[in-house]
Amino acid sequence: MDHFLYRDGALFAEDVPIAEIAAAVGTPFYVYSTATLVRHYRLFDEALDWGPHLICYAMKAASNQAILKTLAAEGAGMDVVSGGEYARAKAAGVPGERIVFSGVGKTQGEIRLALEGGLRQFNVESEPEMRAISEVASAMGVVAPITIRVNPDVDAKTHAKIATGKSENKFGIPIAWAREVYAEAARLPGLKVVGIDVHIGSQLTELAPYELAYQKVAELTEALRADGHEITRLDLGGGLGIPYTRSNEAPPLPSDYGALIQRTLGHLGCEIEIEPGRFIAGNAGLLVSGVIYVKQGDGRAFLILDAAMNDLIRPAMYDAHHEIVPVDEAEPAAELSPYDIVGPVCESGDTFAKGRLMPPVQAGDLLAFRSAGAYGAVMSSEYNTRPLIPEVLVKGDQFAVIRARPTFDEIINRDTIPEWL
Ligand code: LLP
Repeated sequence: MDHFLYRDGALFAEDVPIAEIAAAVGTPFYVYSTATLVRHYRLFDEALDWGPHLICYAMKAASNQAILKTLAAEGAGMDVVSGGEYARAKAAGVPGERIVFSGVGKTQGEIRLALEGGLRQFNVESEPEMRAISEVASAMGVVAPITIRVNPDVDAKTHAKIATGKSENKFGIPIAWAREVYAEAARLPGLKVVGIDVHIGSQLTELAPYELAYQKVAELTEALRADGHEITRLDLGGGLGIPYTRSNEAPPLPSDYGALIQRTLGHLGCEIEIEPGRFIAGNAGLLVSGVIYVKQGDGRAFLILDAAMNDLIRPAMYDAHHEIVPVDEAEPAAELSPYDIVGPVCESGDTFAKGRLMPPVQAGDLLAFRSAGAYGAVMSSEYNTRPLIPEVLVKGDQFAVIRARPTFDEIINRDTIPEWL
């Protein structure tokens, strides 16, 4: 459920008409709903209330500081994957003890940054990385808390580009090697093993792959404890999928997921961490775009929007489907016709939908892409020297620009010209 609903024929974000935001900031823009973000966070919090837990929002999904602050105020921690995300989480006021650091290629500089600022744990993804953390921590005279990310070789049954738990993926260490790697971790200076980490993929629409992976984690916990390691924390990653269409899709709910975690891992007495990103932010955001032209082509009609693949890359990159709805609600009896919905970028891949059935649309109309809150703004670029589009946060009847649209000069003036030119 989200808070983007029609009222008297106009699409609202909570209590604010989308058209009012469009008039104030211009199109295209992203808009997020505070109530939806908070609701999704709380669903996880309630689903895990059977034991000690921390929800570390995977901020890669949508990392504006206003979003981070909104979630942190609810008690959320953060899952970060770069020095930049770490700095951003800290800037948003998230305490180090609520930040977990994931990612396959942490540099020495990033490791140092997090050890200086404080963190809950590194989720270690390889032996060389573990040795690097040991060296940096030892040189600084501190102890780095770590989990080791195991790759359980489970098929997450999701898009190949976002599956991470199969042995051919670059993530984690093969679970079969875990006992040896934990033994090395125990020998290395500057490290304190606190638990196990696993993340098998994103946009999972079934619980079965989680169940397989978590059963393996339960067995590994027992085995590592028998080897003398203190396993007190299990980081179970993110990945719970969301409905991208309003029709028959019904991915599992956080409550089902929480019950599964309790069933497979609850008996171990560990603190549970999860790292949801998409579930929290995905349906809490819209991309709002204006129609520049309606173009009749040979045998097909195009809606040419002012948003493009550089603003929302998911359709081009993952063949992702986003519902696209008019901001002024269509009449129930309106006739639908097929359109190719495209952006102005000079590539055929700049296509959001092909043959999408839409009610009558005219130049100047506003359209909203649903489910665009996660992996939308954060994956955008300035391709074609198109400015990054504004982000807006709504709370009740208020809205605020949380990232302004840069001017052309601000973009262009970042270039520096060598003196020989
Ligand atoms: N934890 C780790 C270690 C991850 O790699 C990810 C996502 C998450 C948590 C959060 O997963 P979520 O709950 O959001 O599914 N750009 C792609 C998704 C990439 C996901 C990468 N890792 C997309 O637009 O679908």
